[in-house]
Amino acid sequence: MLGDGLHVPLADGTTTRSVNLDYAATAPALTAVAERVAQVLPYAGSVHRGAGVPSRVASTLYEEARASVGRRLGARPTDHIIFTRNTTDAINLLAACIPAGAGDVVTLDVEHHANLLPWRRGAAGHRTVPNAPTIEETLRRLDRALAEQPTALLAITGASNVTGEVLPLARLTALARRHGARTFVDAAQLAPHRAIAIEADGIDYLALSGHKAYAPYGAGVLAGRADWLDAAEPYLAGGGAVLDVTIDDVAWADGPRRHEAGTPNLAGAVALATALELLAPTDREGHEDALRAALTDGLERIDGVETLNIWDDAGAAIGTVAFTVAGYDPGLVSAYLSAEHGISVRAGRFCAHPLLARLGLPGGALRASFGAGSRLADAHALVAAIEQLVAAGPTESYISTAEGWAPATAEPAESLLSRLGLW
Ligand code: ALA
Repeated sequence: MLGDGLHVPLADGTTTRSVNLDYAATAPALTAVAERVAQVLPYAGSVHRGAGVPSRVASTLYEEARASVGRRLGARPTDHIIFTRNTTDAINLLAACIPAGAGDVVTLDVEHHANLLPWRRGAAGHRTVPNAPTIEETLRRLDRALAEQPTALLAITGASNVTGEVLPLARLTALARRHGARTFVDAAQLAPHRAIAIEADGIDYLALSGHKAYAPYGAGVLAGRADWLDAAEPYLAGGGAVLDVTIDDVAWADGPRRHEAGTPNLAGAVALATALELLAPTDREGHEDALRAALTDGLERIDGVETLNIWDDAGAAIGTVAFTVAGYDPGLVSAYLSAEHGISVRAGRFCAHPLLARLGLPGGALRASFGAGSRLADAHALVAAIEQLVAAGPTESYISTAEGWAPATAEPAESLLSRLGLW
C-alpha cells in the first residue's frame, strides 16, 4: 500500500505515524497498482487512433482493462463497461440515458448527493422515499412507492458512505423488477470492501470510483445494460464517439465509445482494473469487521460519544463508523485528531445533507473509515485520542476559519509542503 509508514507533523513540532482513517473518501493506491501504471506509461500512445506499436499496446491494454473490470464486477457479457471520471460522473451519464416515458427515478433520502442531484437534472422525474428505522420497513415503503407510479429506475447505495451499513441488493433488485423497474447501485463505498455480482444480484447498472478502490484518482466506471446507453445522446460530444461526421450531420457510435469521446484515461483504466483484480473480498470482510467492532466498542464506552446507525436491523456494514462527541464541533475534533495525534478522519455532513438532517445532526458528525492498509492499532489510536479529548480537552487552541477548524498556530500550507519536499 502506498503511504505505509508515512509520518506526519504534529502541532507541537514532532512527527508521528500517519493514521489514515479516511478510506471512504480516498484510499491510498496499492503498490502493485502504481507499479503496473509505471510499467504501462512508457507505451503512452493514441488509444484507438494510431498504427504505431505504442498505440496498439495502449489500445489493447485499454480494452483488456474494460474486459477485466466487467469480469471482476460479474457483469453480463452484453453489458457495457464505460470508463468515467468517478462515480458522480457515471451517475450523471446514466441520468441522461433514462428513456422518455419509462417512468421516474426513485431514491431513498439516505443517499450521497451524487446519487440524488444528477437525477434531479435528468429529464425523468425524481422521487425521494423517506427512509424508515428498519431495512424491512424501508423495503415496504419502497414497494409502495414503486407501486404508486411508473418507475424507470430504483437508484440505491450499496453501502452508506456515512455509517457503512450495507443494503440487501438482491432483495432490492427483485423488488424493483416486480414493478417493472430497473436498479442502479452506487457501489462507490461497497466495491472496495465487498465482491460485486452484477448479474447474480440482478443489478441493471452500477457505478464505482477508482480512488476509493486502491487506484489513483481520475477513473471510475459505469457498468450495465446496453439498450438505454446505446439509445441515449452521447455523454460527451467529440472525437472517438462517432462513426461518421459531415458538416451538418453525425452518426454516433454504439457501445462504450459512444460515451467516451476524447482521449481515454488509459492509466486510470489500467489502474482500476488492476486494483479490482488484486482485491480479495473475503479477507477484507473479516479484517474490517474486527476493526469496526474494536472501534465501535471503544467509542461507545466513552461518555458523551455516540455512534450512528440508519437502520436498527442492518446486519452487515463495511469498515465505516460515524460518531459524535458531545460538546465538541465535529470540525474541531477532526482538527484536534490531526494536529495532536496524526489521525485523519472526515468531519461534516459527508455529502449526505438529507441523511444528516434526518439523523438530527444538521451540524454534522465525525467519520472514521478503514481499508486494506488499516490495522487494529489505528482503531485503538482513535479511541485513545477521543478518550483524552473527553477527559482533558485539547492541548492546542483551535479557531474556525473559512476552510474549517485549525490549530490557532497552524503552519501555512506552503511551508508544510516545503518541509515534506513537495513545494
Ligand atoms: N464521497 C466521498 C465521501 O463520502 C468523498 O467521503
